[in-house]
Parts: sequence; C-alpha cells; structure tokens
Amino acid sequence: MDQTRLPGEEVYLRLETVDGLVEAIRRLRVRGAPALGVAGALGVALAAKQFEAGRERDQAVHLLRTARPTAVNLARGVERAVALLPSFEAVLTEALRVRDEEIANSRSMAQRGADLVQSLCGAAPTLLTHCNTGGLATVVDGTALAVVFELHRRGALGGVIASETRPLLQGARLTTWELRKANIPHRLAVDSAGPFLMARGEVGAVILGADRICANGDVVNKIGSYAHALGARAAGIPFICVAPESTVDLATASGADVEIEDRGAAEVAGATAPEGTDAVNPAFDVTPAELVTAVVTDRRTFSGRADA
Ligand code: MRU
Repeated sequence: MDQTRLPGEEVYLRLETVDGLVEAIRRLRVRGAPALGVAGALGVALAAKQFEAGRERDQAVHLLRTARPTAVNLARGVERAVALLPSFEAVLTEALRVRDEEIANSRSMAQRGADLVQSLCGAAPTLLTHCNTGGLATVVDGTALAVVFELHRRGALGGVIASETRPLLQGARLTTWELRKANIPHRLAVDSAGPFLMARGEVGAVILGADRICANGDVVNKIGSYAHALGARAAGIPFICVAPESTVDLATASGADVEIEDRGAAEVAGATAPEGTDAVNPAFDVTPAELVTAVVTDRRTFSGRADA
C-alpha cells in the first residue's frame, strides 16, 4: 500500500527493483519500524534476483540498509537476509520469516500491552497515541495500535486521541484511517494539544511505538513523542511504549548515539512559510528512559534499562 496516498486512495505498488523499493522507503510509501524490517529483508531478495554477486549487488544492499537511518529494524532486516546470500530462495525464506515473526510479535504485544493498560488505568481510559503504529507500520495489527484494538475487543477502551504528527501527518492521515476501519471512537488533535489535554485530565495514558530502544532504555520515536512524555510526567499519567524486541538495540548505549534522520526544510516550511524560509526538521526524538513508565515488547514488560 502506498501510504503517501492515504487516506484518499488505496493504491498498491508492485516494486520489482531495489531502486524502486529504496525510493518507496525514502518517500515513506512504506514506513514504520517493523514494516521497514520486512521491506528491507524482501529488498535483499530483489537484489539477489537482480544482480550476480559483486559490486552492483553490494551497492544495492548498501542503499537499502541506509535508505533511512533511525529505525534499527531496517538495517536488521537487511542483515538477516544478507546472511543467506547468494541463494534467492534462502533469502526469500528468511525475509518471509521476518514477516511472520512480526505478525506473531503484534499478537503477543497486544495481549501484554492490554493487560498492562488495564492494570494501570482501570476501566475504559482514553489513550493518546502519536504517529502511526497500526498494521500499516508493521504487517498486521501493529504495536501500540494493536494494544488499542485489543482493549476495544475487551470493551476496555474509552476512546483514542490521535495526534496529527507534523509534518507528514501519519496520525492525521493513517492512524485515523485505521481507527475508522476498526470502528474505534477517536478524535484528532494537533500535536501541541497533547500535554494540555493531559493536564486537563482528558487522557488516561500515552501509548506509542518506537523506532529504536537503546540499551539504557531511551526510546527513539517520531518527533513529538518527547513532548508527550513530558506532558505525561507533569500530569502524572503513564507513558507506555510498545515495540517488538526487533526494535530493541542493545548495541546502542543511549539515544545520544542514534542518528536522527533530518528530512530537510521543505516538509516543514512547505507552502505555508515565506519562500526561502529555512527550517529544522528532525524526524525523530529521544524520550529519556526515566520518562517511560513501561516498554512492552513481544517477550517482556520492563522499565528502565533494556539490558537489565
Ligand atoms: O517516519 P515514520 O513514519 O517511519 O516513523 C514511524 C514511527 O515513528 C512509528 O511510531 C514507529 O516506527 C513505530 S511503528 C509500529
């Protein structure tokens, strides 16, 4: 699904070259950490089909691995598949295994996360979520949104506030689209409304995903997550991160060691600012571990260090 066309059009892309896939990743036609891992692994299968062993294939794999720098899943998915080269069949089998693992991960996180929210928030809380963490960002169901779907199934969800997620509006375009399909009551808010809504007592907990969780427990996620974490701390409500172990990166000590993708001025200044206005556009931020109430993965729930 070309996510840049949503919510207006549901258009599927057929990507048959590594170049085409790299373009789709860079433009966020396919996006979200677990989905990038699957796409990266499948991309190596494309490379195995397109090129003999040698410089061209190495270059294609390098372009894939580095198409976006922040979500650890992309490089991981690529590495897992590269280990099976040169056999196309073996690479494809491994890529499909990455896909199947992410499907299982979503199911497990949904249960564990819903149990946690129920224990922390009681009956039917309103949850604020940021960016997009549903099936579009994974394979099915999602991470934080999988928890939302499960709470809804259990009759234990008041509703969802989706924050817009400037500048590319993953919350406004994609999360609302997925929540509407699932018939889940939701409202859209501008990003900056989050902390005030929390202060006014209108949010039971913040729940969102991650692009990388560092060894010390720092959570790297879509820009705006940190502001919601500060708001949650000030309001005394839980800030919950839901992400598979494939997003946990014990080789990276802290958020300060993560390359934060800078997507350039045009996405921010766009058509609204005077022509030529410069802009700063970090696509992700770092929420320090001490602001994170709990991280829910497919295998565990923890707070503090990820390597403890
Ligand atoms: O730039 P994006 O849209 O790829 O960023 C995605 C996010 O930040 C998501 O919150 C994260 O990948 C978790 S996806 C389940």
